[in-house]
Amino acid sequence: MAGQTSLSNEIEALVRKHGVSREALMPILQDVNRAHNSVSEEAMLLIARALDIPRSEVYGVVTFYSFLSVKPRGRYVIRMCRTISCDMKSDFRPMIAALHDELGVGFGETTADGLFTLEHTNCMGMCDQGPAMLVNEDVHIRLTEESVRKILRDYRSKATPDGLTKIA
Ligand code: FES
Repeated sequence: MAGQTSLSNEIEALVRKHGVSREALMPILQDVNRAHNSVSEEAMLLIARALDIPRSEVYGVVTFYSFLSVKPRGRYVIRMCRTISCDMKSDFRPMIAALHDELGVGFGETTADGLFTLEHTNCMGMCDQGPAMLVNEDVHIRLTEESVRKILRDYRSKATPDGLTKIA
């Protein structure tokens, strides 16, 4: 119940920040997704009530945009480009193998420690510098087997045991 109250308070604060119009829906969803790495069913219900719009509309927006998620995701969401220019690079396959080896999960899965979720994405405009991936909002290019291992270890070392990022 305490969790629900705090989520409810959080959404009330976001509605105060962004307003009660339909245009506020996307910024509110983005803020919730950023804070929780997903938008839960409960959050969608509270947002729909607060904005006085159908719950199905909120759900439709969350499921349409790949950057929003109903399913809980890890602290870091890795989005690996799978479009042809990246896929054709000679480093691509060894780099993907290193990524799976380092994380121990496949695409669409989250590591047991809740730190990383591995996903595919389509071209993000870095084709001449591929293979490329996003980790949350950070772009990583010219990936190799070695660089991808180092990148993941750097993110791991930045995270505290509870999955939060250390403040530098
Ligand atoms: S094909 Fe991968 S960034 Fe364009």
